[in-house]
Amino acid sequence: MNVRDKFKRPIKDLRISVIDKCNFRCPYCMPKEIFGERYQFLKNNELLTFEEIYEITKIFSKMGVEKLRITGGEPLLRKDLAKLISKLKSINEIKEIALTTNGFLLKKFAQPLKDSGLDRLTVSLDSLNSESYKELNGQNLDLNKTLESIEFAKYLGFENIKINTVVMKGINEDQIINLAEFGRKNNLIVRYIEYMDVGNINGWKPEDVVNAEEIIRIIEKKYKLNPIGSNYYGEVASRYSFEDGKGEIGIISSVSKPFCADCTRSRITADGMMYTCLFTNKGHDLRSSIRNSNIEDVEQFIKGIWENRSDQYSVLRSLGKLDSEKVEMFKIGG
Ligand code: GTP
Ligand code: 5AD
Ligand code: SF4
Ligand code: SF4
Repeated sequence: MNVRDKFKRPIKDLRISVIDKCNFRCPYCMPKEIFGERYQFLKNNELLTFEEIYEITKIFSKMGVEKLRITGGEPLLRKDLAKLISKLKSINEIKEIALTTNGFLLKKFAQPLKDSGLDRLTVSLDSLNSESYKELNGQNLDLNKTLESIEFAKYLGFENIKINTVVMKGINEDQIINLAEFGRKNNLIVRYIEYMDVGNINGWKPEDVVNAEEIIRIIEKKYKLNPIGSNYYGEVASRYSFEDGKGEIGIISSVSKPFCADCTRSRITADGMMYTCLFTNKGHDLRSSIRNSNIEDVEQFIKGIWENRSDQYSVLRSLGKLDSEKVEMFKIGG
C-alpha cells in the first residue's frame, strides 16, 4: 500500500516511545525543577502492551514503514524491552530496528538486546567532562558508567554506534572537539544536534542554539571536514568525514537548515498517541482505536492520518511562525 501525505511524502519510519519515565533529567527535556518526585508519569495500564505495539507496527509496515526506532523517556526502563524487539523483528517488512538510549543502564541490557536482534544503537552523550556530565543529566550520574556501557556494547558486536550530542550555547560548546576526537578514537559516529524548541518547558531561545556552521567551524580549527552523501533518502543528519579518512560525524540542523521536505517519520507515544511531527500538539489516539475497533478500521484510521499530514514545523519556524503548544520530548522520544 503506497500511502503519501499532502506533500507526497511516503511513510517510512516509525519511532516508538515505550515509556515516558527517565532516569535522567536533562535540562532541555525534563528539567529537574519540574519533573520532581511527585510528577505523575503514565501508569502501567496506560502503556500500550507489547501485543498492541506489535499489531500497530504491522499496520504501519503494510503502509511502507521499514525502519523502527525505539525511544522513551529512557526505553531501557521498560520491563522486558528485548522481548518486544524480538517480536518486532519477526515482521517481514521491517528491515532495521534501532534504539536511542542515554546509555546509563546499557551495560546491564546490552546482551539481551543483542540477542533480540536489535540492529543499531544510538547513545545520548552531551559531555565527556565528568562534572558537566553530572550536571547535564540532572541526577549526578557517573559518566564512566555510560562510557563502559558503550565499550561493552561494542565488545558484544554492535557496530556503527552513534552518539547524540545536543549542543547548547555556553553550556557544552567546549565539548565539541573532545567528542569529535572521542568518536574518531573509538569508532563512534558523533552527531551534533542543534538545540531545538521541542516541548513547552525548556525555555528555549534562538540565542541558545549553536548552529551547524558554528559547529563545523569549531571542529575545522583542528580537523578539515568533507561533506559526504546520505546513507538513505530523508536522512536527518548531514554527514562529514575527516580529511584524513578516519571517522565520521553528523550534524542535525533542524533549526538552521530544516529537513521537512523529505520527512518520512511517524511517531507513537508510550500510551499510543500518534504524532506526524515532533513539534505538533495534535495526537491521534491509536490506543483507543486498537482496543475498540477491528484491525481494518485501525488501518483506515492510520492511513487517513498520514494522508492528511501537512506538517513542516521547522520550515515554518525558520519563517518566524512558531507554535505555542507542542508535545513534550520525553513523551514523543525525539
Ligand atoms: P539514523 O540516521 O538511522 O541513525 O536515525 P536518526 O538520525 O533518526 O537518529 P536519531 O533518532 O538519533 O535522531 C537524532 C535526533 O535528531 C533526534 O533525537 C531528534 O533530536 C532529531 N530528529 C530526528 N528526527 C527528527 C525530525 O523529524 N525532525 C526534527 N526536527 N528533528 C529530528
Ligand atoms: N533539542 C535537541 N535535541 C534534543 N533531544 C532531546 N531534547 C532535545 C532538544 N530540545 C535529543 C536527546 C536525545 C534524543 C532522543 O533527542 O539528546 O539524543
Ligand atoms: Fe531522558 Fe533522553 Fe529526555 Fe534526557 S533527553 S531526560 S535522557 S528522555
Ligand atoms: Fe518532520 Fe516535523 Fe521534524 Fe519537519 S519538524 S522534519 S515535519 S518531524
